[in-house]
Amino acid sequence: MAARSRALPGNTKRKPAAMWAAVEEYLDGLQIEPDAALEAALEASAAAGLPEIAVTPSQGKLLQLLTRMVGAKRILEIGTLGGVSTIWLARALAPRGRVVTLEADREHFEVARANFARAGLAKRIDQRLGRALETLPRLEAEGGAAFDFVFIDADKENTVPYFDWALRLSRPGAAILVDNVVRDGEIVAPGSRDARIRGMRRFHESLRQEKRVSAATIQTVGSKGYDGFTLAVVLR
Ligand code: SAH
Ligand code: DHB
Ligand code: MG
Repeated sequence: MAARSRALPGNTKRKPAAMWAAVEEYLDGLQIEPDAALEAALEASAAAGLPEIAVTPSQGKLLQLLTRMVGAKRILEIGTLGGVSTIWLARALAPRGRVVTLEADREHFEVARANFARAGLAKRIDQRLGRALETLPRLEAEGGAAFDFVFIDADKENTVPYFDWALRLSRPGAAILVDNVVRDGEIVAPGSRDARIRGMRRFHESLRQEKRVSAATIQTVGSKGYDGFTLAVVLR
């Protein structure tokens, strides 16, 4: 015990968040290939003043692995930001596949557009500007093929309607991944006045009676703090 704690960087002692970040750095160093396009996308996003809330490298790689596992050719993402998660997803698409990504903020949309061009992925990514509750019905009206994978990562208040849209637009066997479903553990507070927390509580409670999916929630720690993902598989 003493030997083990001596081997840790001093600032991780009794500081869980520092420990999570140190472990993430150690594992990423072993498991994540350096990627110039992703680094450039993060730099351009920071330079433009976008919030630093993109998926971490290991989370991005998880998105890639799930994309591969379902053999995704059609991916829907709700919440583009600077397009970091989109780049991870697009890189794992099946041949001739596409990611449709929805973003309400014009500046985020433009930063992402430049990031996709720089990554050589512009042709693989279909960006839609507008509030997702307005662009989702348009997508349905276009009548494109069903989605194989959906990543929900936009305004947390609307997670329930986004999940409902994900179900409407995806095929049986599709996977739906929802980000930020634990929010520092605040989701256990029934009286929260934070609309984002209330939105996530409504989401978890609505899943209970949703017969069209099988789902599990995994809590996560790391450089983005304490949060979690819900993964759902569409049954029919
Ligand atoms: N998926 C990104 C992070 C998304 S952050 C990544 O991991 O790299 C959430 C994004 O959702 C922000 O860019 C925000 O502008 C966008 N957003 C917020 N409300 C929205 C809405 N109603 N419709 C579409 N996008 C929205
Ligand atoms: C926030 C949003 C996210 O999508 C995320 O992954 C982390 C934080 C936020 O709005 O604070
Ligand atoms: Mg998120």
